[in-house]
Amino acid sequence: MERFAKRRVRTPYLILLHMNTQTVLLVTGVAALTLPAFASSETRTLPAPDRTGGMPLMQAIDTRYSERSYDPDKAVDDKTLSEILWVAWGANTAGKRTIATARNLQNMGLYLLTKEGTWRYDGPSNTLVKVNDKNLIPLTAQQQFVNDAPVQLLFTAVDDKWGRCHVGSAYQNVYLYAASKGMATVVRGLIDADALTKELADVLRPNEKVIIHQTVGWPVEEDEED
Ligand SMILES: Cc1cc2nc3c(=O)[nH]c(=O)nc-3n(C[C@H](O)[C@H](O)[C@H](O)COP(=O)(O)O)c2cc1C
Repeated sequence: MERFAKRRVRTPYLILLHMNTQTVLLVTGVAALTLPAFASSETRTLPAPDRTGGMPLMQAIDTRYSERSYDPDKAVDDKTLSEILWVAWGANTAGKRTIATARNLQNMGLYLLTKEGTWRYDGPSNTLVKVNDKNLIPLTAQQQFVNDAPVQLLFTAVDDKWGRCHVGSAYQNVYLYAASKGMATVVRGLIDADALTKELADVLRPNEKVIIHQTVGWPVEEDEED
C-alpha cells in the first residue's frame, strides 16, 4: 500500500548511566509516559498534514454523520491517512495536541489496524510504528461493513477517569475531517475490547485499555437516477 522507511527504535535507557540522580529522576518520569520501544520496529514517516483549508467548521459540524457502507475499491492515500491521524491525535503548531487532555498528560493511544499488522501513531514525529504483525481487524468486525473500510482506527486510554473523554474528542475530530473531505466514518463500540487489549498486552502501557474503534473510507457512490 504505502511506502515506508525502516529504522530501529533506539532505547534511551543507557543514557541514564551518565547522569546525576536528579536528572535520572526527571528522565525516569518522562520514561513513565514513554511508550514501549520495539526491538526491530518498522517506522513509516507520514507526509505532513495540510493544516489549512477544508470546509468551514460550522458546515462540517452541520454535515457530520455516521456512515456504514464503504467503497472497498477506493484506497486512502498517505496524505489523507496522515491527516486523519493528525486530526485525531497529532501535534499542532503550538506544540500541543489536536485534542485537549486532562492535566495535559497527552496519554491517549491511537493505533492503525491493517491486515498485515498493528501500527502505533506517534503524533509528535508524525510517524507510524509497527508494533506487531497481527491482523486484529476480525476482533472489531462484528459488523460486516468494517471489512470494506480502508482505514481502521483503534483508540486506547490509560486514564480511567478521563480517558474516554479524550477518545471522544479525537473521534469527533475525525468525524469533522471526514465531513470536510466527503469521506465516510463511524465510531464503533461493537468490538471485542477485552480480546483486543489482551492481544496488545505487550504493546500497551500499564493500565492502557482499548476503548473504541473507528472506520474511515469513502462512501459508496449511489448510481445517479436517469
Ligand atoms: C460511543 C459510541 C459508540 C458507537 N458504536 C457504534 C457501533 O458499534 N456500531 C455502529 O454502527 N455505530 C455506532 N455508533 C454510531 C451511532 O450509532 C451513531 O452516532 C448514531 O446512530 C447517530 O447517528 P449519526 O452519528 O449519523 O448522527 C456509536 C456511536 C458512539 C458515540
